[in-house]
Amino acid sequence: MTGRILHISDLHVGRVATPEPMTALGELIAQLAPQVLVVTGDLTHRGRSAELAHAKSLLEELSLPFFVVPGNHDIPYLPSRFTTPFAKWRRVFGQLEPVHTSDSLVVHGLSSVRPWRQQGGAVDLAALARVRATFESAPEGALRVVALHHHLASPPWRAPGKDPVQNRGLVLRSLVEAGVELVLSGHVHQAAIVERREFEVLDEASPGSVVLATVPGFGRPRPRRRGEAVGFSVYEWNEAELRAHTWAWVGRSFERVGERTFRRS
Ligand SMILES: [Fe+2]
Ligand SMILES: [Fe+2]
Repeated sequence: MTGRILHISDLHVGRVATPEPMTALGELIAQLAPQVLVVTGDLTHRGRSAELAHAKSLLEELSLPFFVVPGNHDIPYLPSRFTTPFAKWRRVFGQLEPVHTSDSLVVHGLSSVRPWRQQGGAVDLAALARVRATFESAPEGALRVVALHHHLASPPWRAPGKDPVQNRGLVLRSLVEAGVELVLSGHVHQAAIVERREFEVLDEASPGSVVLATVPGFGRPRPRRRGEAVGFSVYEWNEAELRAHTWAWVGRSFERVGERTFRRS
């Protein structure tokens, strides 16, 4: 059982005017041959209908199945932020909690956006129960992935004002119990890819491990902020291993800058 996912996040359409990375990604896709594109939120900068539609058209031009969850920038400002926060998103992208299933891959998307929080995110218990239900019927050997905008593990470089998802210990244990192998997130605009045993001793009550990952932003809405890379990640797997490759925009093209391999349990 093998497969390959492309992960991008934080396009911030509406704020980012430079099309070169998207053009270059489109050209690389033929070489990378991912089976699905996972986009973990902040597709837009202001959550406007025109921005959402433009983001969707950019993804459609890549000509591969894509899978999207919303970020904190994908809901509008007042007053609809509190009355109908996801109405525009639903009109363009449909559901908030999509599920992708094939013989080699199951991805469950979560909406971690909370309209009353500007930056923070949360996942409720009902959503975690739906994750468990999804993976109870996952095909044997399929890679089990959860995608959400807000991160569980913080990146090594600065991320001002960007706290991890609320109650992340509880969320992590619930995902582990559901058999999740890989959690893909954005929001921090930087890559961090870490296996649970690299930061926490497993206990009898929660023995499973999982890889937690963020990705560089695909857009750079604050071009003068130092330390904010532009890039994407590729995950490929077989029965024994999960391998992550991180690509970054260097000069005028993408370069593969990092690689990590994890044993699948
Ligand atoms: Fe963002
Ligand atoms: Fe964000």
